[in-house]
Amino acid sequence: MSILVTGGAGYIGSHMVCSLLEQGRDVVVLDNLVNASYAALERVQALTGRCAIFIKGDVRDRSTLEHIFDSHSVNEVLHFAGLKAVGESIEQPLRYYDNNVGGTLSLCKAMATAGVRRLVFSSSATVYGHVERMPIKETMPTGRPTNPYGRSKLMVEEVLRDLCRTDPRWSVALLRYFNPVGAHESGRIGEDPSGIPNNLVPFISQVAIGKCGALPIFGNDYPTRDGTGVRDYIHVLDLVEGHLAAMETIARRSGVSIWNLGTGQGYSVLEMIRMFEKVAGRPVPYTIQRRRDGDIAECWSDPSLAERELGWKARRGLEEMLVDTWRWQTANPRGYG
Ligand code: NAD
Ligand code: WQD
Repeated sequence: MSILVTGGAGYIGSHMVCSLLEQGRDVVVLDNLVNASYAALERVQALTGRCAIFIKGDVRDRSTLEHIFDSHSVNEVLHFAGLKAVGESIEQPLRYYDNNVGGTLSLCKAMATAGVRRLVFSSSATVYGHVERMPIKETMPTGRPTNPYGRSKLMVEEVLRDLCRTDPRWSVALLRYFNPVGAHESGRIGEDPSGIPNNLVPFISQVAIGKCGALPIFGNDYPTRDGTGVRDYIHVLDLVEGHLAAMETIARRSGVSIWNLGTGQGYSVLEMIRMFEKVAGRPVPYTIQRRRDGDIAECWSDPSLAERELGWKARRGLEEMLVDTWRWQTANPRGYG
């Protein structure tokens, strides 16, 4: 049996595909390469000595999906395909809803037709919106995400809940990622943002290597220990291991299961800079700017439900996350080029 990985050429998807191939699983990747390079999958092949079947196509395209389900014996789907830039989603909301919500609807319809009802969805801590009390547990109500990207994730969660309510043969994991960072320990695959990075760690990394001038710190007047925003950064390889554990668990369950994938530990922007300077052995200049619209002061997970139910726990600490980021950055100054 094969696993279909949508968005499998992307940052998290390529690390997932690498791990699945290492485990001897057969993998079909569907990606339209809107935010990825085929080179990532070539490198995965070089690392694992195995090859995923790659289909360049759009998850919204029913005929492509039907072709995949007709020609490969797929029994589960990992759904990473999506657009993820918060600022862009504010400028292009229809594109985001069409891609992220429309893409999932199209995927679920094709899965239902093919009789495949096991799905792992890449959700996000953004669905919690503004939370007063940390850490965040899965039982806390979902809030009001502050942008169309976040709302598209929440909408998909609701769609998948409705689907499982009406048809108990479905088994769906909603994995709420906190802040994925880091790269494969080989330095061969990693995050390759196009243009100016939106997220903190790729930005710091590009400042350290000299591609960006100075890091803008978005606010130092938050009610946090040093005034800068606090987040729960998780190594992408820990995230991948969380998916493997979730896949095993939903194979034995039906309905919707929700797990936070985080470390349970928050770090501030200044703490991230200090650790990066230590790891890279060079300074990371920064300037203090006004707060970024929609940002929250702090956000970190209670990951204990995943530990209890999945037997999974993030193992890699902040230093390892940033060592691996820096190895990827220095070995690939132009990303996949
Ligand atoms: P990414 O952009 O690197 O990967 C997404 C992949 O999906 C890309 O390869 C892109 O080409 C592909 N894609 C997008 N739309 C598609 C479509 N319509 N059809 C086929 N392929 C399509 O992003 P990532 O960081 O690897 O994120 C993977 C998933 O995890 C996304 O759904 C994202 O929203 C979610 N997520 C990411 C983060 C994060 O900080 N990286 C946090 C929470 C959730
Ligand atoms: C982290 C901290 C910033 C950049 C976003 C999405 C979320 C999820 C993960 C997909 C914050 C500060 C950042 C910079 C800075 N994505 N910062 N200067 O905002 O927690 O989450 O990515 O699902 O949905 O919203 O991550 O890395 O952008 O920011 O000071 O240039 O770094 O203010 O405190 P965020 P981030």
